[in-house]
Amino acid sequence: MKDRITKERLEHLLRTKWAGRNLFCYEETDSTNLRIKQLGNEGAPHGTLAVAEQQTAGRGRRGRSWESPAGCSIYMSILLRPDIEPDKAPMLTLVAACSVAEALDRAGAQLPDAKDVSVPTDDACGKDTGKPRVQIKWPNDIIINGKKLVGILTEMNLQSGEIGGVTVGIGINVNISAFPDEIKDTATSLCIEYGHPMERAEIIAAVLERLEVNYEIFMRTKDLTGLMDTYSSMLVNKDRDVLILGAQEQYQAHALGITPTGELLVRREDGTVEEVYAGEVSVRGVYGYV
Ligand code: BTN
Repeated sequence: MKDRITKERLEHLLRTKWAGRNLFCYEETDSTNLRIKQLGNEGAPHGTLAVAEQQTAGRGRRGRSWESPAGCSIYMSILLRPDIEPDKAPMLTLVAACSVAEALDRAGAQLPDAKDVSVPTDDACGKDTGKPRVQIKWPNDIIINGKKLVGILTEMNLQSGEIGGVTVGIGINVNISAFPDEIKDTATSLCIEYGHPMERAEIIAAVLERLEVNYEIFMRTKDLTGLMDTYSSMLVNKDRDVLILGAQEQYQAHALGITPTGELLVRREDGTVEEVYAGEVSVRGVYGYV
């Protein structure tokens, strides 16, 4: 049976109070982030969700595009209306990363062993993989087996210096069995890693459930204090050497963890410890992407 994300199916699976309760499902749209921004400007409530089978102008970070073919992945954006200072909004990206990673890791843990799953052998998704752990590459890439599985793009709408709304856009590679040459060495999908196609609506419902819980934990302190343990337990960079790529300099350091406000804490080779900001640098593994 063809896997389709319908409003009826999603509403049936949702276990949330507010996340995804005002729901828009599109067969095709330019970008679910753009749909949510527009819905937000029109007064849509906190938790409004846009999901598309296909995006024609999917947006990635740093002005890149996000490949969004039909029917095999998840393109979803949610509207948040937090009562916080605008400079705290970037932390919501880490809240989202934590939520998606938890939901996907639990989904993997619930699967039968790959060897017990009946899969077509001529398909990349039929690879006998066991159950690799889902991890976070700071600040918000979700990876599995060292390859990128999810991208998150958070965009803030400011009105007279205050947050009008925050759009959290999440792209999850689910049932794709092959990637274009440019990204085939660094991208992967759940289907490839878990050895089995998965129902996308179930995954969306699981992500929303974790996001609702984690958002409420975040809002208690308006920082990541209550999520540090969960985030850190999934942080692939922790206790590893990383390359910090800034506009002015590039250097090697040892990643120690994150701060309660979401910066990466690193120790330079001369022993000094400093915080690096996601908006100012990107981080790579010393020998590659992770
Ligand atoms: C990244 O570059 O890593 C972030 C990619 C974010 C892609 C998602 S797909 C759903 C939402 N709509 C978009 O246009 N982008 C985000």
